[in-house]
Amino acid sequence: MNSYDDYLTFALGKGRLSNKTMELFEKIGISCEEMKDPSSRKLIFTSEDTKTRFFLSKGPDVPTYVEYGAADIGVVGRDTILEENRNVYEILDLGFGKCRMCVCGPESASEKLLHHERIRVASKYPVIAKEYFNNKKNQTVDIIKLNGSVELGPIVGLADVIVDIVETGSTLRENGLTVLEEICPLSARMIVNPVSMQLKGDRIRELVIKLKELL
Ligand code: PRP
Repeated sequence: MNSYDDYLTFALGKGRLSNKTMELFEKIGISCEEMKDPSSRKLIFTSEDTKTRFFLSKGPDVPTYVEYGAADIGVVGRDTILEENRNVYEILDLGFGKCRMCVCGPESASEKLLHHERIRVASKYPVIAKEYFNNKKNQTVDIIKLNGSVELGPIVGLADVIVDIVETGSTLRENGLTVLEEICPLSARMIVNPVSMQLKGDRIRELVIKLKELL
């Protein structure tokens, strides 16, 4: 399989993101019945009517598939796009999955941030954390990569603060933490392979126009 064929191939982040994306696509006439079976373990789906193909991958792998042209288009959170830093075009904000990337911690850590102390920062997003502290704030920090439940970091004394996604804020509240600084807003974005943009530009532009009308 290679994506430089008649099909428009989409890589979608597995889970909530792919469900939301397919809801949206259905409204503009792109649907894939096979994908609706919740018990299915299948990872790739083809719709012959619309000449589209969808595959489901882990979120952080979506920009990789798109950069290498295995998928023409990807749908993934802006957090992942910033963290993976791949050679892809970001062409559309899909508006769902809205949240914020923030520096969070106990209230007591705000002094350390203010005085640019050398603090420890735990995050699932070491690239974003490094870019923010080193380049934007000019603050030298030690970054510790974690893979989830990052809020534990400051609680168990691993780190002073975390860089993480905040949606409703309830995870922070329930763990006695708070937003100390906001890094950037996030939401689901559509990304495109640069060669696909050349070769399949008309189809991609038509898709974007339809989605924009809907949004
Ligand atoms: C994300 C994020 C926060 C939480 C924020 O974690 O890392 O922990 O959601 O949401 P809230 O502000 O609405 O509470 P996720 O559920 O993806 O799991 P993870 O901790 O394993 O990354």
